[in-house]
Amino acid sequence: MRIGQYQLKNCLIAAPMAGVTDRPFRSLCYDMGAGMTVSEMLSSNPQVWKTDKSRLRMVHSDELGIRSVQIAGSDPADMAAAAKINAESGAQIIDINMGCPAKKVNKKLAGSALLRYPDLVAEILSAVVNAVDVPVTLKIRTGWSPDERNCVEIARLAERCGIQALTIHGRTRECLFKGEAEYDSIRTVKQSVSIPIIANGDITDPLKARAVLDYTGADALMIGRAAQGRPWIFREIQHYLDTGELLPPMPIAEVQQIMQMHVRELHDFYGQGKGTRIARKHVSWYLKEHAPDDQFRRSFNAIEDASEQLEALEAYFENFLRK
Ligand SMILES: Cc1cc2nc3c(=O)[nH]c(=O)nc-3n(C[C@H](O)[C@H](O)[C@H](O)COP(=O)(O)O)c2cc1C
Repeated sequence: MRIGQYQLKNCLIAAPMAGVTDRPFRSLCYDMGAGMTVSEMLSSNPQVWKTDKSRLRMVHSDELGIRSVQIAGSDPADMAAAAKINAESGAQIIDINMGCPAKKVNKKLAGSALLRYPDLVAEILSAVVNAVDVPVTLKIRTGWSPDERNCVEIARLAERCGIQALTIHGRTRECLFKGEAEYDSIRTVKQSVSIPIIANGDITDPLKARAVLDYTGADALMIGRAAQGRPWIFREIQHYLDTGELLPPMPIAEVQQIMQMHVRELHDFYGQGKGTRIARKHVSWYLKEHAPDDQFRRSFNAIEDASEQLEALEAYFENFLRK
């Protein structure tokens, strides 16, 4: 899989997820086998970049792997300016978000709401492509609603505007996250354009990954929620794609090691207070399959102190391994 001048180490990409794919999580996904990761979306409005939240979301040139930064907005000039600033500060790829269904984003006519306005989409894409020397990619849903599925039109337009890879989440804006992702639209898009296509939506395990690649003919896969608390899914999928065999389940001692390292990195990255709060959701994802009762999660979520959090995890696993 190639995007412009960048050769990915494989065809598995960690999806951008606001509030999840921060720098510590992106590094972990990359270490665990993702060929590329994409940053959480940044608004195209530079006024908000001064906030701590946005500052932490910006990429830094010492990050591992190919640095793809996602921007969202609807004003072509603002989007071009945002792309330029991010490219100058270390982004190697600019990804444009036209897939986000969030009301907050859609009210401002951005994210997937833009799919209803192909002329504006073309203006935004051209403005961004012309503003930067790095490859520009686009992420969309299949359309606004099942009756307005215009992903083929948008894909053709994206190709004409110089977009170098297109990710499609197999749902419409109206579907939000309901029902199951469909791959017929992605397959049709793949047959309609020659830029690399990245299939996304509900890829949860190695067999599904193989099936989606085969069915859609996509060049790559993007994986989001299935990597929450399971960043090693990239390694599992890659192994299956390479050998046709499933890796044995990750030993619990290794889960512990990965999780504790992740929690420590969150403390370092966000500072003890915020890091402790952010670690809670990640820990609950990691423990989903290991802690069937909710008791540990509830007491863990009440902990406010970073070292206490690490000690609680240590004790939890000691107990678990002794059983
Ligand atoms: C918590 C969360 C945050 C998300 N944030 C973004 C985002 O910032 N930009 C974006 O393009 N998509 C975002 N998405 C959508 C994902 O990138 C992906 O398209 C979607 O989750 C479907 O893939 P999956 O089934 O593998 O999770 C988000 C999804 C989730 C669950």
